Amino acid sequence: MARQFFVGGNFKMNGSLKTTKEIIENLNKAQLDSSVEVVVAPPSIYLTAARETLRKGIEVAAQNVFDKPNGAYTGEISVDQLKDAGITWTLTGHSERRVILQEDDAFIAGKTKAAIDGGVSVILCIGESLDQREAGTTIEVVTKQLQAVAEKVQDWSKIVIAYEPVWAIGTGKVATTEQAQEVHAAIRKWLASTVSKDAAEKTRIIYGGSVSEKNSKELAKQADIDGFLVGGASLKPAFVDIINSNQ
Ligand code: G3P
Repeated sequence: MARQFFVGGNFKMNGSLKTTKEIIENLNKAQLDSSVEVVVAPPSIYLTAARETLRKGIEVAAQNVFDKPNGAYTGEISVDQLKDAGITWTLTGHSERRVILQEDDAFIAGKTKAAIDGGVSVILCIGESLDQREAGTTIEVVTKQLQAVAEKVQDWSKIVIAYEPVWAIGTGKVATTEQAQEVHAAIRKWLASTVSKDAAEKTRIIYGGSVSEKNSKELAKQADIDGFLVGGASLKPAFVDIINSNQ
């Protein structure tokens, strides 16, 4: 079945109010493939400015969210506060938060559940390290990350899975189409056996890790690659070409 192509832009902790607005102005005036679902994730401090200036049809995502409702959690942002600001998506489980911030599978699963239950859709990031790939444990690693979420979340209709091999993030070393397709197919198989056939058919599985306008067309042709989560290239005008790469 045809799944709507999905392209996310993860700005990470980059830029200023000025540069965020410049990226948005570029997106607002760009000719975009209307069949593609586009979501951009600026730093949390710029979420409201992004929401207020972005064209209709492009949604805004937080790069992170807390797993508890409003309360005494200094520095955190709740699902309700995202909704209050018109933010309809959030990332969870990005490898930079798993590694640098030491977020474990259970914590990420709790955040994912809190977002879904609160009406915010989730880009759930998973992926293996270079050591894990070289040890041949990639599928085991990513399905374990997914299993932690499956233990808390039954409705996967508001989840987009982003497979991001950690060794390809920010390195310029993009996974080959074969490597990416193999893992995406294994994730879809896991969805069919663990969640449901319907979830396997409908869930978008997107690739992230050094995606650029040079490699996105080839990757987009793969049967189980339903889009991208773009880091560095989402800060550049070429992000438009990546959005339009499924033509
Ligand atoms: O979340 C997307 C990001 O991890 C990929 O980064 O710079 O390799 O496209 P980049």
